[in-house]
Amino acid sequence: MTTNMADLRINYDQGSLSQASLSADPFTQFNLWFEDAVSANVFEPNAMVLATSTSEGVPSARTVLLKGVNKGFRFFTNYDSQKAAELADNPHAALVFLWKELHRQVRVSGWVQKLEARESAEYFHSRPRGSQIGAWASPQSEVIENRAVLEKLSADIEARFADVDPIPLPPFWGGYIVKPRAVEFWQGRPSRLHDRFRYSRNGDSWEIVRLAP
Ligand SMILES: Cc1cc2nc3c(=O)[nH]c(=O)nc-3n(C[C@H](O)[C@H](O)[C@H](O)COP(=O)(O)O)c2cc1C
Repeated sequence: MTTNMADLRINYDQGSLSQASLSADPFTQFNLWFEDAVSANVFEPNAMVLATSTSEGVPSARTVLLKGVNKGFRFFTNYDSQKAAELADNPHAALVFLWKELHRQVRVSGWVQKLEARESAEYFHSRPRGSQIGAWASPQSEVIENRAVLEKLSADIEARFADVDPIPLPPFWGGYIVKPRAVEFWQGRPSRLHDRFRYSRNGDSWEIVRLAP
């Protein structure tokens, strides 16, 4: 028996969102919803889809992990990866968080900047040693012949840094910050009459509007 996808539907009934209940600041609102997601045991609540595009407008998207919110949304990756090449061409990006258990989605669109090497090093050194080796070993987004190639690269890096502690920050690895121009909060409601509110930057403050679902 195969599943008929067209018949899959959920009635969203986990709550509602009103303009009166929203914080004036989207970061505060995000942090409130993030804590709700943690309390509801959402699986990897900091997983977010990051969409980038080439300067010709060809999009690509992948999941990365949010590692902090401070004036923007921070993540870490390889600066030679496909996403990094696209961000160098076009510093506009979008993020999507889906917190299914709460029938919630948050969308962000904004400008992306590299973090300072000092901030990247601080995060890099907080990671387990195995992840640090992995970051050095993986030529992220490049074609490799087989898994053995990756394991050999990893073994070589382990040998290289066997007596080195701490492992230095790879020059090709670090963080980005997505500074939002808009942040949208979506709460599923029954009969597809969902609540959506979008914050748009207006000088130093934020304008909030309700959007049709
Ligand atoms: C749950 C999850 C979390 C991930 N977190 C990261 C991350 O924080 N940084 C990263 O570079 N890749 C992360 N990845 C891998 C990316 O999705 C992607 O495969 C990789 O970054 C290469 O993307 P690119 O070729 O488009 O640059 C994660 C994947 C998943 C499924």
